[in-house]
Amino acid sequence: MPHCLAKVIEFPSFPFEENGYRFLFEAHQYGNLSQSLILVHFGDCEFFLRKRFRKDRGDFIVKCEKISRNIPTGVIKGALRIIANLNSSHLITHNLLNDSPKQNLLSPFLKQIQDFVDFARPFELEIGFGSGRHLLNRAQKYPEMQFVGIEIHTPSIEQVLRQIELRGLENLWIINFDARVFMELLPSSLCEAIYLHFPVPWGKKPHRRVWSKRFIDESMRILRRGGMLELRSDDEDYFLYALNTALQAQHLSCKINKNLQKEIVSKYEDRWLKQQKDIYDLQVYALNEDQRPKERYDFGFPSKLSLSTFDTIQRKIVGPSWFLHIDSFYTSDDLSVLMLSFGDFGQPQSKFLLISGDGKARYLGGDPLPTQAAYFAHQELLKIIAQGGEH
Ligand SMILES: C[S@@+](CC[C@H](N)C(=O)[O-])C[C@H]1O[C@@H](n2cnc3c(N)ncnc32)[C@H](O)[C@@H]1O
Repeated sequence: MPHCLAKVIEFPSFPFEENGYRFLFEAHQYGNLSQSLILVHFGDCEFFLRKRFRKDRGDFIVKCEKISRNIPTGVIKGALRIIANLNSSHLITHNLLNDSPKQNLLSPFLKQIQDFVDFARPFELEIGFGSGRHLLNRAQKYPEMQFVGIEIHTPSIEQVLRQIELRGLENLWIINFDARVFMELLPSSLCEAIYLHFPVPWGKKPHRRVWSKRFIDESMRILRRGGMLELRSDDEDYFLYALNTALQAQHLSCKINKNLQKEIVSKYEDRWLKQQKDIYDLQVYALNEDQRPKERYDFGFPSKLSLSTFDTIQRKIVGPSWFLHIDSFYTSDDLSVLMLSFGDFGQPQSKFLLISGDGKARYLGGDPLPTQAAYFAHQELLKIIAQGGEH
């Protein structure tokens, strides 16, 4: 993580600009003067740096705030370098010299959630593609079809992005995200097939499984009528659990197979075949077409928000399928910043809310991902702020 360490860290008066970077304000944490956030703009990027006094060492550290993780490392390093230069006489150390841009992570085939908001083409989806053998082969074989691969393991993503370039594929999008949230963001009845091959069985932590009742419901919603969800697994317990979950859902048909020989053998399948393990296949077909338009959630704020006190504001609210946690408050002159985590218990989101002196409010870096749980949390936040403003 890029950072700089110094005995003292001071800034010229805000706002100030250097090398294309605009440093807009420093907001101090309410009730904890050892921490502050510095808002930085560079091109289209907007992010917070966090400055923290380390009492045990008597020094200051500045690094990128975790929530701003999607900002390219080179951009963050540029901002930190300016701070290091401004405080050069007090500098202890930094790690800002070597830029190591991850070339593949700049690939045009690596997409963001925003790219799927108005996605309207038929497609096939593969979840947890690993080495990508199956996904790449299908994309190569069916160039007229759009493919989407979702993975959380960065080295696998980099490897597949390289292969997309080497094979000259134009029809494969990759997204680095948790499939359990991503499904909810996809449009209804457009998907031709969903592949989930050899998912991690999570025997002792079933809540981490990709397959769940909600997963089946979302899969059936996004599949077109007759579209297929395919699970392959070497884990008999996972297979039985998946079959049982599917049988409890509506409007689908199931087909099962054991030790079916497939044209493309994935890396994991290869491993299990060498160990002579049984392989279970479950194919679930959607029998209905979901005609409901995808929900559009509004994450807007009233034109004027007022928050006159932090002390009496309720900071933890837990609903039936969502939560909202106001982690901390920051202030700079008449501006307030709230650090929030909220949404689904299994896949929480984190955001900063900025409320400027004239009462205008917005989420830093854009609205939350439009999930139902995030929307309920947003509604609750509006209520809390309205109540907080009355004190
Ligand atoms: C056991 S590997 C199987 C890889 C590949 N499908 C194969 O058959 O060789 C499981 C893959 O799922 C990915 N994965 C696990 N949980 C995920 C999630 N929630 N969303 C997306 N990918 C996930 C892991 O990173 C891993 O690459």
